[in-house]
Amino acid sequence: MTRVLIGVCGGISAYKACELVRLFVKDGHEVVPLLTKAGERFVTAQTLNALARHSGEQSPYPHLEHADLYVIAPTTANTLAKLASGIADNLVTESALAHAGPLVLAPAMNARMWANPATQENVRKLRERGVEIVGPAEGELGEGGSGVGRMSEPEEIYARCLQLLSVTDSLAGVRVLVSAGGTREPLDSVRYLGNRSSGRMGVALAAEAARRGAEVTLVAANLAVSAPAGVTLVEVTTAAELTEAVLETDADIVLMAAAVADYRPAKPERGKRRKDESAWQVELEPTADVLRELGARRRKGQLLVGFAADEGDPGLERARLKLVAKKVDLIVFNDVSRADIGFDAEDNEAVLISGPGERRLAKAPKTAIAAAILDEAERLREAASS
Ligand code: CTP
Repeated sequence: MTRVLIGVCGGISAYKACELVRLFVKDGHEVVPLLTKAGERFVTAQTLNALARHSGEQSPYPHLEHADLYVIAPTTANTLAKLASGIADNLVTESALAHAGPLVLAPAMNARMWANPATQENVRKLRERGVEIVGPAEGELGEGGSGVGRMSEPEEIYARCLQLLSVTDSLAGVRVLVSAGGTREPLDSVRYLGNRSSGRMGVALAAEAARRGAEVTLVAANLAVSAPAGVTLVEVTTAAELTEAVLETDADIVLMAAAVADYRPAKPERGKRRKDESAWQVELEPTADVLRELGARRRKGQLLVGFAADEGDPGLERARLKLVAKKVDLIVFNDVSRADIGFDAEDNEAVLISGPGERRLAKAPKTAIAAAILDEAERLREAASS
């Protein structure tokens, strides 16, 4: 049985913590609820303890030493800031500082507080330390209006916690290379041709592979999100730099999640191009197709995973062809004609295409999709070695 600490801060979504406690208890986990003073204004310790079947009488401190996971839902902007700075001035923050296992935060606040650079900086710091941030989601906010700041649903937080609890070393000793982000091709010294990839999918893959014990190299092209803790980071800007970094690899599994430019300006201008009345004609030349090259030179036992960002059913059909044309083991298709998934979105929905067949993954956070992709990669590796 696993022991889970559930911290609850002061916010309107504190009522959803009751459901989170219920989900854990239903599956047989031991839950110790912890409340801040502000949290008590929204939900009582008695309610949480009753749901957790916890007397609430004994001191929570002995439990802290043995907790397998700590989830704080909701996490307010204030608690987020305290955690980023290591402040321990109440039971919830003290416990976070004392807890050695996975820490999951489900932020909830108004959209302006979430977007504030101070909050974003705190989130970045925490992510870099390996803290798992679930959400916030976009939608109606407790104070009225809508935006990004709504706490993720308890089922989503619970699903992520379960993934973190299923400690696995299934990729121990395996070298994994992930490319992530979008390349930028200079037009002159200040302008570039780029794409909308944020790097979220690749970062989620790198984090998940590291969690499974792999030795992970993340070739990162202009990420809009922080790189995860525990991976070797190789930062690149252009397709040429990415090509060099990736083709050097002797990794056992290569996941090409980066959106690599297919074309680059043939002759970028040296300085900054001055504005004049004439049109600016730019000739684009093709870049190297890294995945195709990897497919052509792959060694025995190496597993290659490509991504196909394309549109609708014709895109899915083209993705199937890519599996064969690029000689890879798995293609992850996602439909970029939809605004709610894929490029620059928190969620994704994908079709996994491999030799043995196809598997549809329902819309889910990119972290969960990453876990499903790695499950599939592991299955293919196992099938290839047996
Ligand atoms: N890819 C690559 N090198 C490139 C372009 C793409 O390695 N120069 C990889 C991507 O990282 C991805 C896969 O190829 O894993 C498919 O990328 P995608 O852009 O969907 O397909 P393309 O092969 O570029 O073809 P098209 O854009 O015409 O669909």
